[in-house]
Amino acid sequence: MTDFATLFSPITIRNLRVRNRILSTGHDTTLPTAFVPNDALVAYHRARAAGGAGLIVMQVAGVHETARYTSHLLMATSDDCIAGYARVAEAVHGHGCALFGQLFHPGREIMESQDGTLPVAYAPSAVPNERFHVMPRPMSLRLIAEVIAGYAAAAHRLERAGLDGVEVVASHGYLPAQFLNPRVNLRTDRYGGDVDGRRRFLAEVVAAIRAATGPDFVVGLRISGDERDLEGLGEDEVTDTLVAFDGAFDYYNITAGTSAGLGSAVNIAPPMMVAHGHLEPLSAAIKARVATPVFVAGRINQPQDAERILQRGAADMVGMTRALICDPEMPAKAQTGRLDDIRACIACNQACIGHFHMGYPISCIQHPETGRELTYGTLTPAPRPRHVLVAGGGPGGMKAAAIAAARGHRVTLCEAGRQLGGQALLAQTLPGRAEFGGIVTNLAREMALAGVEVRLGQPVTRALVEQTGADAVIIATGAQPRPIAIEGAETGHVVNPWAVLRNEVNVGGSVLIADWSLDWIGMGLAERLARAGCRVRLAVDGYMAGERIHRYVRDLWAGTLHDLGVEVIPYARLYGIDERTVFCQHATSGAAMVFEDVDTLITSLGHESVATLEDELADVVADIHVIGDALAPRTAEEAVFEGLKAGVAL
Ligand SMILES: Cc1cc2nc3c(=O)[nH]c(=O)nc-3n(C[C@H](O)[C@H](O)[C@H](O)COP(=O)(O)OP(=O)(O)OC[C@H]3O[C@@H](n4cnc5c(N)ncnc54)[C@H](O)[C@@H]3O)c2cc1C
Ligand SMILES: Cc1cc2nc3c(=O)[nH]c(=O)nc-3n(C[C@H](O)[C@H](O)[C@H](O)COP(=O)(O)O)c2cc1C
Ligand code: SF4
Repeated sequence: MTDFATLFSPITIRNLRVRNRILSTGHDTTLPTAFVPNDALVAYHRARAAGGAGLIVMQVAGVHETARYTSHLLMATSDDCIAGYARVAEAVHGHGCALFGQLFHPGREIMESQDGTLPVAYAPSAVPNERFHVMPRPMSLRLIAEVIAGYAAAAHRLERAGLDGVEVVASHGYLPAQFLNPRVNLRTDRYGGDVDGRRRFLAEVVAAIRAATGPDFVVGLRISGDERDLEGLGEDEVTDTLVAFDGAFDYYNITAGTSAGLGSAVNIAPPMMVAHGHLEPLSAAIKARVATPVFVAGRINQPQDAERILQRGAADMVGMTRALICDPEMPAKAQTGRLDDIRACIACNQACIGHFHMGYPISCIQHPETGRELTYGTLTPAPRPRHVLVAGGGPGGMKAAAIAAARGHRVTLCEAGRQLGGQALLAQTLPGRAEFGGIVTNLAREMALAGVEVRLGQPVTRALVEQTGADAVIIATGAQPRPIAIEGAETGHVVNPWAVLRNEVNVGGSVLIADWSLDWIGMGLAERLARAGCRVRLAVDGYMAGERIHRYVRDLWAGTLHDLGVEVIPYARLYGIDERTVFCQHATSGAAMVFEDVDTLITSLGHESVATLEDELADVVADIHVIGDALAPRTAEEAVFEGLKAGVAL
């Protein structure tokens, strides 16, 4: 068994003993519906505390009316928040886990409107942010005083609610970082000018919080050790600030990036293209200069990595946030040696931060129970165990099988191919996406633990169902590339993405990818072929490449494609091909868009369901569930969630 001697050693922060070094860093959940903690948020955090996390830092809470950066944040501006926070504290403490809350003001980083009109953003100076295109109003001295008082009052409320501490959010380019930044803070009054002036806001915030709270109450600071942006705070600037504040805060929680820039925001929740534990060197460098305990987060998804970071002395606690979103029981599994059972986060960013950015409650594509703890938190045993046959071993079928078996059904999963995984096997072949294959490993393990019988190379047919006498059939037979009917297809070299990914076809030196899907496939193929030396044109039937995937994945990929010389053409609707000439229409004007010298046209035009079994079995078995891409071609997220729902419904 791996020895996690450091990971599971306790740590004392101020006077608070935390049972281990695993931390869930603050993250918006979009679970709150009225700006205060609710039942769903209590259940969400209870699950992570019960799973063994040492410390949970709750999501941001606005400290002033001008802090409403989304419509689902928490607000700690009135005593109305206390009861909800107290319920979270009771639930989390009941499982031996410590609880802090984040205190927050976004400054100019306003992401959403509350009512459709553009809100006024307040910042140290009228310096716009690149990403949300906000021009803020400089804060008056009176507003600054109000906001500082807001931090203190909010901290006091969270202390009254029973939380163990608060964390001032100076990370990701939010208000305190805006004050610190000489390129954003152009003030000439006492909150600007020189470095002491720029630090004054943060100094007054921490002093006000200390004055408002008791001696044991923990006050930490979250900060980007490097905002990784041309206009952002650099590593030296931040480190000097942290040295200057040494002793003022009880810990420094190190992250990177700023919300202000498209490229730097990727660091907020780095996708799978980013290396595991990518901030360890940054954290180590800061830790070498300060006496304050240092925490770090960022793509640390396995306890082995966390242990290594701690053992090398790069941090005192390790943020494993998406790791806990994906598997709340990860700490307990690690501590009891069940390493193979850990469902590792694959940093797809789809259901966690992807949902947040769309304004929906967060979840996990591999563990749709997350964020839905009130509905799916506890599996109930099947009232009457039955024989369930699952057709298809893609993500949907695997999840359905695992859940049905865990509830006590006898489950047989038949997969026509020789491997489990379905389309995830193709997805993992795209550049930088190998980790996507983790979904297959994880679901296969869940099936094994639940006792599912798996038959590979076994297509499900009417005859097979009749022969097995299954009581219920789950049809998870997935999808295939949509057959194309474009004019002139027979005159040119036209291939579908699956054939390219499977190396079943040769591709010429000049490629045009007609991309209706606007997902991972078009961008991934473009990168792969550009790296292979092809001239690549990516003609997207929409506004931009990757329009339908999470923005951090898209933004990173957009940079890569640009650097590789891929030509991205928006608003291009495929019309036809004539030998080496591809014709598109401008999606709005209808004007012809002509692309010459195309050796190979790749048609990323989406998928169509494989679902003939449903009708074939209609008179054979009464209980039929069609899920995932077989129901309608979408993504692994829907497939797995529908697998959960089918498994629960049986
Ligand atoms: C290149 C590529 C990249 C992708 N990237 C992503 C991504 O990053 N994120 C994401 O969420 N989604 C992604 N997707 C989509 C995602 O993989 C699918 O939505 C998901 O796999 C659908 O799951 P499923 O279980 O419904 O079906 P599938 O994954 O299609 O699995 C169906 C399985 O059923 C089997 N089968 C078919 N007929 C029978 C039968 N009669 N009997 C037994 N077995 C049968 C098939 O062999 C197959 O293994 C990607 C897809 C592709 C092609
Ligand atoms: C859904 C989601 C919401 C987030 N919201 C916040 C937030 O409110 N405050 C914050 O400091 N960081 C936020 N983050 C960043 C995380 O705290 C964390 O730093 C990030 O997920 C990287 O760590 P990980 O790789 O362990 O997940 C968010 C991350 C996610 C996934
Ligand atoms: S949705 Fe993806 S990134 Fe988010 S927690 Fe789950 S596996 Fe990790």
